[in-house]
Amino acid sequence: MLGRKSKFEIKSPEQILLMRTAGLVVADVLARMQLEAGPGVTTLQLDKIAREMLTAAGAQSSFLGYFGYPAVICSSLNDEVVHSIPNEIALKDGDILSVDFGAIVDGWNGDAAITIEIGTPRPEQTALSNATRESMWAGLAMAVAGNRLSDISHAIEVVIRSAGNYGILEEYGGHGIGTKMHMDPLIPNYGEPGHGPELIPGMALAIEPMATLGSKHVRTLDDQWTVVTTDGSRAAHWEHTVAITTDGPWVLTAHDGGAQYFAARGIPSPAANFAV
Ligand code: MF3
Ligand code: CO
Repeated sequence: MLGRKSKFEIKSPEQILLMRTAGLVVADVLARMQLEAGPGVTTLQLDKIAREMLTAAGAQSSFLGYFGYPAVICSSLNDEVVHSIPNEIALKDGDILSVDFGAIVDGWNGDAAITIEIGTPRPEQTALSNATRESMWAGLAMAVAGNRLSDISHAIEVVIRSAGNYGILEEYGGHGIGTKMHMDPLIPNYGEPGHGPELIPGMALAIEPMATLGSKHVRTLDDQWTVVTTDGSRAAHWEHTVAITTDGPWVLTAHDGGAQYFAARGIPSPAANFAV
């Protein structure tokens, strides 16, 4: 690498630690969202709780004011895939909800999303959400120095395709992250392995597969934010921010840094060095 400058923002170990602080705020808020979301609760109520937690943590929102976005969470319900604005509608039994949240600490961003089933889970939705989450982890496991960017994309696609006949969004994907929430590179959630830039220590990526029970086609509503499936099929969305380090992938927005997942698969990770 001598003399070669990366196109991407390369973080020092100290900067990755600041991103870890932001990532833990995100992990705390999403854990709370999981607890609070249920039948009768509105997504505006969830947004209010997330705002209070941000203030208590002394952190800023990555989302509020981003191109005019009016909330701190995205709360995408049923056929809404991503970027839906919180509202007064009460969640109902059988709904499937993605909550996406980003926090800034000392100028460094963390970004993650979870999918929650409201009330009684529906097997079809559970299978979709599990496949999407597992594909995210397969992608995170490829966030290793020396791999190529599309190795992540490919790992995600393989897991989703082998799990069922799901739609994989093509207009949206993961992204670099650091001093800004959205940075280069873009990370498609599908593709052949072995292409794109080589991953190097100090890169940080938000890996976020989105999958549907039907079509991969989506459109944006008149509010200019909400992305819905064109066929009305329901969707799942999972996301984590990961740092590529000399010691392996470190999932900055997971409380355990990914230790449990990586250890079970023999993947070295700095997460193993930190007590949870
Ligand atoms: N985490 C989301 C993503 O990466 C960003 C939400 S867009 C915002 O797509 F405007 F709400 F910030
Ligand atoms: Co993101």
